[in-house]
This record gives sequence, C-alpha cells and structure tokens, in this order.
Amino acid sequence: MHPLLEKDHQQLIDLIDALDKCVLKGDSMHQVTKYLDAFVALAEDEFKNEERVMEVYKYPEIIDHKKEHVRMLEQLRSVHGKLSKGFTPFGKDYMQYLRNWLEAHLLDADNKLEKFLYQINADSNKTDK
Ligand SMILES: [Fe+2]
Ligand SMILES: [Fe+2]
Repeated sequence: MHPLLEKDHQQLIDLIDALDKCVLKGDSMHQVTKYLDAFVALAEDEFKNEERVMEVYKYPEIIDHKKEHVRMLEQLRSVHGKLSKGFTPFGKDYMQYLRNWLEAHLLDADNKLEKFLYQINADSNKTDK
C-alpha cells in the first residue's frame, strides 16, 4: 500500500475485523452499532483525505473516483440506516457485504490511484538526477 493511503486503509480494515469479532461473539446490538457508526465516520474521513491527495497530485481520474466514493457512501449509509433502526439483524451476510464493499474498491480504484502515486514518485526521482 502507498504510504499516503496506508494508514487510513489499515484503520478501515482493522475496524472491519473488530466488527467481525463483535458479531461472532454475539455482542449486543448497541455495541455492534457503535462499531458500525465508527466505520461510517472513518470511511467518510478516509474518502475526504484520499480526495485531497488526488487533488494535490492532480490525479487524472479524480472525477470518476470521487463519484465512486459518493456511490459507496450512499450504499453504506443505507445499510447503516436499516441496521441502526433495527429493521434487520446484523449478521454474517452484512459482514461479508461490508468486506466486499471495501475490498472491491481497494483492489480496483484505490489500487489504480496507488500506481499513479508511485509513478509520479518514480518520475520525480528521475528528474532529480
Ligand atoms: Fe478511494
Ligand atoms: Fe481508499
């Protein structure tokens, strides 16, 4: 993972793992909701930070990447809303959904961004010489 994105991404992964443990242990809905609230807040922050990085480094695919963040947050907020209102129990299916939600983006759009960031780094090293 690129150092500019690594910390935030790792935090999201760690929180998913914590949530997973919480669900497996059969912790109270209150506890699960707390983790879920934290996950949504962290995802919002992570997207904002990443968008700032894209702006600073003039990432050519910023518009599409931002659109994907908007779409993802809509999905996440909708799931979060259903769960926090108690319309549906939070179980393994949702856990899998959240993992897929994050992984699909990390492996595709974020991966492209990381390659771009490494590339500009390599290019600037060339011009330094
Ligand atoms: Fe992203
Ligand atoms: Fe990201």
